Amino acid sequence: DRYGITQLVADDKSSDEIREKAASLGREFVIAATGTVRERASKNPKMETGDIEVSLEKIDVLNASATPPFTIEEQSDGGDELRMRYRYLDLRRAPLRRNMELRHRMAFEIRRYLDSKGFLEIETPYLIKSTPEGARDFIVPSRMNPGEFYALPQSPQTFKQLLMVAGYDRYFQIVRCFRDEDLRADRQPEFTQVDCEMSFVDREDILDTFEGLIKELFRSVKGVDFTDPFPRMGYAEAMERYGCDKPDTRFGMLINDITADVKGNGFAVFDSAEYVGALCVEGCASYTRKQLDELTAFVKRPQVGAGGMVYIRMDEQGPKSSVDKFYSQDDLARIAGRCGARTGDLILILSGAKKKMLPALCALRLEMGDRLGLRNPDVYSPLWVVDFPLLEWDDETARFYAMHHPFTSPKKEDFDLLESDPGKVRAEAYDFVLNGVEVGGGSIRIHDTELQRKMFHALGFTPESAQEQFGFLIDAFKFGAPPHGGIAFGLDRWCSLFGGSESIRDYIAFPKNNSGRDTMIDSPSAVAEEQLKELQISLRR
Ligand code: AMO
Repeated sequence: DRYGITQLVADDKSSDEIREKAASLGREFVIAATGTVRERASKNPKMETGDIEVSLEKIDVLNASATPPFTIEEQSDGGDELRMRYRYLDLRRAPLRRNMELRHRMAFEIRRYLDSKGFLEIETPYLIKSTPEGARDFIVPSRMNPGEFYALPQSPQTFKQLLMVAGYDRYFQIVRCFRDEDLRADRQPEFTQVDCEMSFVDREDILDTFEGLIKELFRSVKGVDFTDPFPRMGYAEAMERYGCDKPDTRFGMLINDITADVKGNGFAVFDSAEYVGALCVEGCASYTRKQLDELTAFVKRPQVGAGGMVYIRMDEQGPKSSVDKFYSQDDLARIAGRCGARTGDLILILSGAKKKMLPALCALRLEMGDRLGLRNPDVYSPLWVVDFPLLEWDDETARFYAMHHPFTSPKKEDFDLLESDPGKVRAEAYDFVLNGVEVGGGSIRIHDTELQRKMFHALGFTPESAQEQFGFLIDAFKFGAPPHGGIAFGLDRWCSLFGGSESIRDYIAFPKNNSGRDTMIDSPSAVAEEQLKELQISLRR
């Protein structure tokens, strides 16, 4: 059961009835037993209860069990698919049980801490209104309002802001959110947020309050004490030096911009590139041809998207590169200097459009981190990433999108740019990043109607379309909205980091697979014609 395994004994001294019953038991039978606890003759040091056993005096079978489709042990022999289909059996295994216990402990400590700081947990609705911003919505047809649909919330964002208008100045909720996005190891279509909002605060108040929560969780759940304030990094620096907005700061190996150092030597690939970036990998000058070929294949994968890779080996005899034809020893030494490389190091170089190469260098850096064992899951490196851009330009639709959401406030010093140069405006937005995983994100919100109007304008909304979609919020803000801001943490991701697993599925009792299916209950599934008729929905089959 949940509490572990204990050995029961029926031996020569037991009655025939007990021995017969014991012999009839199979795997996973549910039984009730009475007996005397005694010291074992041959102890099992590998078992928590290995010193004792129970000499049976009575045993009853409460329910027999069919043979389970996989072994229910620490390491199961069942493949992913089988275990998902019989999730209730998988959940019997100790690793999953520990994960559920961890999740319970986290949620419990979060509630305890936030309650102690005066936060109220308030539920917000699941049947809400679809908005085109953000990820895709899951929509739900309304029988009573034919042809109309609810949407499931991607987050309680607008409701928590309305709660601030309502005067509930410290709100939180451990809440399910729904996003119809492509799935990955750290993404599920329904996931849980620790959603928080506060009034009369600035960024410092928010970071301070929630750094307190994070440290308390580390202390109470992991026994790890962080005394120093968490480091902070600007978005611009994160992008330039780590190639992404969620840097894994457990190790260095930063990106170096060597564009100016490599141009004009007749090497067409670099000469024509917008950007050339390099990583200095310490102590890897001895990498073999095969290893370098592997890395080249890695960066050329479509997910990484580089055209190729150039390397410089910092050999004892001097730098040796794959482009020696174009670069003299002095040239290579200058590049090495820019990267801070020393004898024994290996420099890996990617070139192309900057927007594509930074993520590619980020992927290469993480790959090297993995290969060199620099990403130990027991080491925790927390980081606040701050000063995100407010808007993101999309070439395809030729318009700006809110990088966070349309209610995020620009930084005060950038207010004026909102109309003159929207792309340059920085937001009062922040993410909490742990070991390269975005665990939380939030912002100070716009509470001023005029500023919100400018923001909607920058996003390409007409006053009418803004009113149609967000009218309830715009109206609410006319009635005395306090300055406010907040943050939401991904509970599933947080659990997986504390539990040391890559996949958040392991911390969700009944998750979906990578195609968004629950194979245990076989969902999604077709519905009866009757149901569709009632909803006035017809399907073209
Ligand atoms: P955001 O969209 O950044 O912010 O989400 C907050 C956090 O939720 C987690 N998360 C996910 N976890 C699992 N599966 C997913 N599909 C998924 N999507 C997001 C991440 C992320 O950091 N309303 C704002 C918060 C705010 O401004 O207060 C919001 O939802 O860990």
